[in-house]
Amino acid sequence: MTHDDDAPDRYAVMGNPVSHSRSPAIHRMFAAQLGDRIEYTAIQVEPGGFAQAVEQFRVSGGRGLNVTVPFKLEAYQLADSHTPLAQQAQAANVLRFAPDGALEAHNTDGPGLVRDLMRLLGIGGSGHPGSSAQDVFRGRRMLVLGAGGAVRGVLAPLLAGVPASVVVANRTVERARDLERLFGAGRIRACGYSDLAGHSFDIIINGTSASLGGEVPPLPAGLFNAGALAYDMMYGDRSLPFLDWAQRSGAASVSDGLGMLVEQAAESYHFWRGRFPDTVPVLAALRLGTR
Ligand code: ATR
Repeated sequence: MTHDDDAPDRYAVMGNPVSHSRSPAIHRMFAAQLGDRIEYTAIQVEPGGFAQAVEQFRVSGGRGLNVTVPFKLEAYQLADSHTPLAQQAQAANVLRFAPDGALEAHNTDGPGLVRDLMRLLGIGGSGHPGSSAQDVFRGRRMLVLGAGGAVRGVLAPLLAGVPASVVVANRTVERARDLERLFGAGRIRACGYSDLAGHSFDIIINGTSASLGGEVPPLPAGLFNAGALAYDMMYGDRSLPFLDWAQRSGAASVSDGLGMLVEQAAESYHFWRGRFPDTVPVLAALRLGTR
């Protein structure tokens, strides 16, 4: 091990592309807030090179990693052990090197989303929930758009918030049905977009990648109940096609996923270092920086 005891603890985010990641800025703000000395970098990894990059990082004294597209599944498979959240998602966005070198996988995307939704919906809660949100979505009808990895990764924590109902709609209906089978037909209902006509919801979450092509899933009119929230799991410009559509279609409030990014980072920081940073000033600073 080439780690020097006086050197800051090393962390990084690995992905492709990764140069525009906000994670280094977020974690540096967390560390400054808590008085920790850490180094956090963004590492671009080429396809096929993930396992080697993780090993190199470990050997050079790395403590933990965030993992983003397209390596979350590989990160899960590479790990020696998995937290229940990683197991439910079958994907990992956080890795930790145990003192014996073993690789532990975790997934903080779902808790990050739940925490951000709680903030937006004004659902109080003392302290950081540490993912133990119970009944936070009580009575609310929820629609989740998409049935890919991003949605699969967040469904269990959303269901733990006990909404009145969760509908998962997807272009390829069979993929939504796979999730229905996995989580139980009593807990989520699968359908295609056209099947949504005549139904309405309190929370609509876009977990598709349609906006990468500037598109919005073909959704019928009348989906938003009074006071409904539209949420896109992407942030910044990428969230605009869906959020613009939602605003025109009757959503009372809209939000991109920047808060989810900050909250999943806080959960990652806690997984690595045992302390929760305060996310509020960090999200505010990022929002100021984006104007
Ligand atoms: P991710 O890990 O980001 O979820 P993915 O597994 O490729 O990536 O899933 C992408 C999701 O976005 C899927 O739900 C996909 O729908 P299909 O399963 O039918 O492919 C959805 N998606 C992507 N482009 C879309 C578009 N133009 N319109 C509607 N849905 C789209």
